[in-house]
Amino acid sequence: MEKLTLSVNQTLKLGKRIAVCLGPGDILLLSGNLGAGKTVLAKGIAQGLGIDKNEVISPTFVLLRLYQGKHLLQHFDFYRINRPQDIYALGCQEYLDSRAVTLIEWPERLKFLLPKEFLKIKLILKGKNQRLLKFTAKGLRYKKLLKEIGAGINPALSLKVNTCKERAG
Ligand SMILES: Nc1ncnc2c1ncn2[C@@H]1O[C@H](COP(=O)(O)OP(=O)(O)OP(=O)(O)O)[C@@H](O)[C@H]1O
Ligand SMILES: [Mg+2]
Repeated sequence: MEKLTLSVNQTLKLGKRIAVCLGPGDILLLSGNLGAGKTVLAKGIAQGLGIDKNEVISPTFVLLRLYQGKHLLQHFDFYRINRPQDIYALGCQEYLDSRAVTLIEWPERLKFLLPKEFLKIKLILKGKNQRLLKFTAKGLRYKKLLKEIGAGINPALSLKVNTCKERAG
C-alpha cells in the first residue's frame, strides 16, 4: 500500500488513523532518509494514542523515549548505532517483544536483530512538502493490520475501521 501526503498535517493525520488500529505488542519500523518525516509520523501516531504530539521529540540522542497513552508507546531511534551488537550492550532488544506499541526509526541499524514480523513504513521525499509512504507487512498478524489500516485510510472502505478494535492477536 502507498499513500502520498502533501503536508506535515496530512502526515500527522495519517499517523492518527494508523494509531486507531494499533495494539500492545505491535512493532512499526519507520524507515527513510534524514528529514523524510519519520518523527512527524511518530508524533501523529502518538497523538492518536492520546499523547501530546509536542512531547514527542526525536530520541536520537537517548535511543528510546517512552510515553503513556491509550497504550504505552516506545519510540526508538537507532541512527547512532553502528553495530547491532551495541544494542545488546544497551539491553534494547528486550524491549522489542514487550506489550507496548513500538516505533523504530532507523530500523536498518538493527540488521540481524530486526524483529521477525513487523509493519514497515518507508517515507520517501517527493517534494518540499510531499512524502510518499510505502507500507509493507511481514507476517500474518501485520498483513491483517495493514488491511485494517488501509480500510481506515481509504474513505470508501471507512465502514471497516470499526473492526480495528476487534483484532485480537
Ligand atoms: N508531508 C510531510 N510529511 C512529513 N514531514 C514533512 C512533510 N513536508 C515537509 N516535512 C518536513 O520534513 C521534516 C521531517 O522531519 P522529521 O524529523 O520527521 O524527519 P525524520 O525522518 O525523523 O529524520 P531523522 O532521520 O533525522 O530522524 C520536517 O522538517 C517537516 O516539517
Ligand atoms: Mg527522526
